[in-house]
Amino acid sequence: MERVKTGIDGLDELLQGGIPEGSAVLISGGAGTGKTIASMQFVYNGASLYNEPGIYVSLETNLKNIIWNMESFNWDIRSLQESNLMKIYRLNISYAKTREEVIQRVDEELNTISQLVKEINAKRLVVDSIASFGVWFDSPGLIRAILFEFVDKLKNMGCTTMLTTETRGGRREFSAYGVEEFVTDGVIALYFTPPHRSIFIKKMRGTDHSKIPHPFEITERGIVVNPQDRVLWESIK
Ligand SMILES: Nc1ncnc2c1ncn2[C@@H]1O[C@H](COP(=O)(O)OP(=O)(O)OP(=O)(O)O)[C@@H](O)[C@H]1O
Ligand SMILES: [Mg+2]
Repeated sequence: MERVKTGIDGLDELLQGGIPEGSAVLISGGAGTGKTIASMQFVYNGASLYNEPGIYVSLETNLKNIIWNMESFNWDIRSLQESNLMKIYRLNISYAKTREEVIQRVDEELNTISQLVKEINAKRLVVDSIASFGVWFDSPGLIRAILFEFVDKLKNMGCTTMLTTETRGGRREFSAYGVEEFVTDGVIALYFTPPHRSIFIKKMRGTDHSKIPHPFEITERGIVVNPQDRVLWESIK
């Protein structure tokens, strides 16, 4: 089995070298835990270190936070975009009015993403964050059904994929709708118990991995994990 290196300092070590190729991995965590930075770093590292084209799909209402991150970490994505090694796409369903319209718009957006993947021969794909689906669908049952199909279709695009989702925080929660953690092949949880950050691999199909939380920091180089150190469960709130 091939591994896809995240290139995030210390993380691949916890995964025996990287994420199994073709997996869909959920990055879960509360607000401000580092989900956007981790997932962007995955695509950026792929493009800049491993020559692997990648697409970062954002569901945020504006792309300001992405630009801020790029500037803050000195990630020069312009040249990567120009050489088709990286694409940023803003997924927007907000103008749909009825449930049927939303379902149709999700489908159209999936087609667009699929075309982008083919266009640059993408190997890495990020969707940040699927928790935003809650804005468009009010019924939990419908959200789960749509998410299930959404993730399934993404998986069929042939990329190694990261999806982020937001929890209310706390060490026992891994998803916003209780379905994301089951439809994905892997779950990586991020925690922020001020001033400490920690990362825990809850599952990763197809490989052994670390089973304890490790400390990480957000530095000027992005996320840096300390694989040698451990964090006690009891200290994570
Ligand atoms: N240059 C930097 N150096 C150190 N820490 C930073 C830097 N830039 C951002 N951060 C930290 O990262 C946090 C934001 O990370 P990120 O946007 O990835 O979180 P998130 O989990 O995606 O949050 P949200 O739920 O709001 O989407 C900030 O709150 C800040 O603590
Ligand atoms: Mg975010």
